[in-house]
Amino acid sequence: MYQTKNILRILLYIYLFIFITACSSENKEYVSIPENPLLEFTVPANFPEPSYNISLNPPTKKGFELGKKLFYDGKLSSDGVISCGFCHLQDFAFTHHTHIVSHGVDGALGTRNAQPLHNLAFMNEFTWDGAASHLDLQPIIPITAAVEMNETFASVITKLEETPEYVELFAAAFDNQQISTDNILKALSQFTIMMISANSKYDKIERNEGTVFTDDEAAGLELFTAKCASCHSGTLFTDQSYRNNGLSIDPQYNDVGRNRVTGLASDLYKFKVPSLRNIELTFPYMHDGRLKTLEDVLNHYNTGIVDSETLDPIFKNATSTIGISLSEIEKQQIIAFLKTLTDDTFLNDSRFSEF
Ligand code: HEC
Ligand code: HEC
Repeated sequence: MYQTKNILRILLYIYLFIFITACSSENKEYVSIPENPLLEFTVPANFPEPSYNISLNPPTKKGFELGKKLFYDGKLSSDGVISCGFCHLQDFAFTHHTHIVSHGVDGALGTRNAQPLHNLAFMNEFTWDGAASHLDLQPIIPITAAVEMNETFASVITKLEETPEYVELFAAAFDNQQISTDNILKALSQFTIMMISANSKYDKIERNEGTVFTDDEAAGLELFTAKCASCHSGTLFTDQSYRNNGLSIDPQYNDVGRNRVTGLASDLYKFKVPSLRNIELTFPYMHDGRLKTLEDVLNHYNTGIVDSETLDPIFKNATSTIGISLSEIEKQQIIAFLKTLTDDTFLNDSRFSEF
């Protein structure tokens, strides 16, 4: 297991190197052409600048269409069934809601809960432990992992070359017209960076678009700002750091989190602070899906936090107790606020739907 992960990491670095060198030689101006116009990547007024360098892989009509087709195609897996969309369902903000941990080819079980896919262009690192340092590199993990799509790029490329529609799409989407690993990854990113969720009730209020919070939601926001926003910060609801939020060690997986990437003892059991957008729909919760409901999450922060060497100091109070003190009413108010982060426009946006 560890060895496979290390090999994966090395592979990622090699790919990253090839990418950087490839990008610098291709660093030219992209111009919109009529058959394949550039898509408009609009940063919402209340969002920060994207982390993804759009100019190096600007989404085009054909590139996006190709990325979407790849995202929903079982050809990217060894059994022809498991597509990205199999584990990332739009109705649930692109999570796999019925599954505590993901399941891939031949029902193989992973160890982690599928993450939502939204606002990826604004994230610096990917997966629960940050193993993927660039969005373009992230799909290498699910495509090649035995417990996910269990496939090789050589075999994916052969299958795509045998499909006339793909030959046409790659030719239309990319100047070099090639069906290559690079272009597969770029097309997937052109699709996924467009998946922006910025139209929740919360966003509309932030942008003064004529809606207001109910009393409970407003009280929830105040509590959230005081007790949660130090980690789930800003408009993305994450400071993108890795922290230990006091979950007990799961004896089945003993998932060490960020430590797997850095090897540092100080990173043991730390996971990326997740964005809480669309959180109403991304159950079950936490990296291993151990908590079923938002009530369970609030109970965890209130009374369930387990102390350890790397537990975030925020949870250690001046008194001897650990955790975040919350009354029953306060928990409900926080949940009411969290539900204002649900973005129905995004969840129903047909640009991202399979059919
Ligand atoms: C078998 C289920 C499964 C499949 C298939 C799958 N994923 Fe995932 N995805 C997951 C899981 C589980 C995670 C969390 C992985 C981790 O932390 O190690 C994840 C994480 C991600 C992330 C990181 C999100 C973030 O916020 O850091 C992205 C991006 C992503 N997947 C895109 C894709 C793409 C693109 C494909 C198809 C090439 C794909 N996934 C296929 C289950 C799956
Ligand atoms: C010290 C930083 C920190 C604080 C404070 C904090 N969280 Fe978290 N939160 C995290 C981390 C880290 C995770 C992911 C842990 C994991 O999966 O192992 C997380 C996970 C969650 C999840 C699950 C998300 C998902 O996609 O599964 C929810 C919901 C959540 N937190 C809500 C809250 C609320 C509400 C508060 C305030 C009462 C709060 N958090 C306070 C760091 C924090």
